[in-house]
Amino acid sequence: MSRLNFLPNPFFALAPMDDVTDTVFRQIVAKCCKPDLFFTEFVNADGLQSLGREGVIQKLKFTESDQPIIAQIWGLKPENFYKTARELVELGFSGVDLNFGCPDKTVVKNGACSALINNRSLATEIIQATKEGVSGRASVSVKTRLGFEVVDLSWAELLLDQGVDMLTIHGRTRKELSKVPAHWEDIGRVRKMRDDKKLPTLIVGNGDVTSRKHGEELAQKYSLDGIMIGRGVFNDPFVFSSTSPWQSYSRQQKIALYSEHVRLFAKIWEKKYRPIRTLNKFCKIYVNGYEGAKGDREKIMAAVSTDELLLILHEMIQS
Ligand SMILES: Cc1cc2nc3c(=O)[nH]c(=O)nc-3n(C[C@H](O)[C@H](O)[C@H](O)COP(=O)(O)O)c2cc1C
Repeated sequence: MSRLNFLPNPFFALAPMDDVTDTVFRQIVAKCCKPDLFFTEFVNADGLQSLGREGVIQKLKFTESDQPIIAQIWGLKPENFYKTARELVELGFSGVDLNFGCPDKTVVKNGACSALINNRSLATEIIQATKEGVSGRASVSVKTRLGFEVVDLSWAELLLDQGVDMLTIHGRTRKELSKVPAHWEDIGRVRKMRDDKKLPTLIVGNGDVTSRKHGEELAQKYSLDGIMIGRGVFNDPFVFSSTSPWQSYSRQQKIALYSEHVRLFAKIWEKKYRPIRTLNKFCKIYVNGYEGAKGDREKIMAAVSTDELLLILHEMIQS
């Protein structure tokens, strides 16, 4: 029996996206149409267990509305995964997800995340240390890619053999970054391997899903337990809805939704931990898809405080 058996089949998850899927954005997505599962941005377990803890722990903020939520961690030292996993359970997370997929050059050079595809003994140690830390009180899962240089299903097999509760496959290799379409056939092969091994591990597919309908089709075609959507939310904050109203949203409605995001941002982050410029990437999500959107974005991005920004947005809604 899976520790994630509260999830529907198929379930939909919002992908972890660093500097994007913080509690503020997760709450906005939840308000538009809540996915079945959230993840935090990736959080460095070694950083969390160091003097830099105060800055790192901020990424673990969550509220009533962005739940159920799994904390995603990365790092190098198994003992820090153990300690962090214990803390995450205490903080109320439904599970701990291990990032074995990030392709970032610096991260890979240090031997973390997708580099672990080539260091399977350390990957195994990290999983086991995390499982010990969690001690059956929450799920332990992995999010990874199909291989490092080439598709290599022996990697997914090793992860399945570790007895993880959930395995999310971003259907590309590390080498492919996001440059080619995701290989869903191979994600289906991992699911088949799970079936052949008769394991309870949930298999989640990820890569280029643009709508709920699209995700449902892929889940059905490859018999997957879950679908994870990342960038699809940039084109439609209601991406988890089967009847998204986004295409018919007016300029006023879009700006009003962005105002909500900014108000929450001001309450949670302003003047500490996240500067106002981090809002710019969100501006492109909301202030888009209507005539004059570019001009509106230019005015909005010139604001130097959230008070000024909220005033500009208010005037735009009135005009
Ligand atoms: C801005 C950005 C930040 C990301 N940060 C993370 C992260 O912290 N952890 C992670 O596992 N994947 C991260 N990813 C990868 C996504 O979770 C996802 O696997 C990838 O975008 C493919 O899915 P999509 O096509 O639905 O976006 C990030 C992707 C983007 C675009």
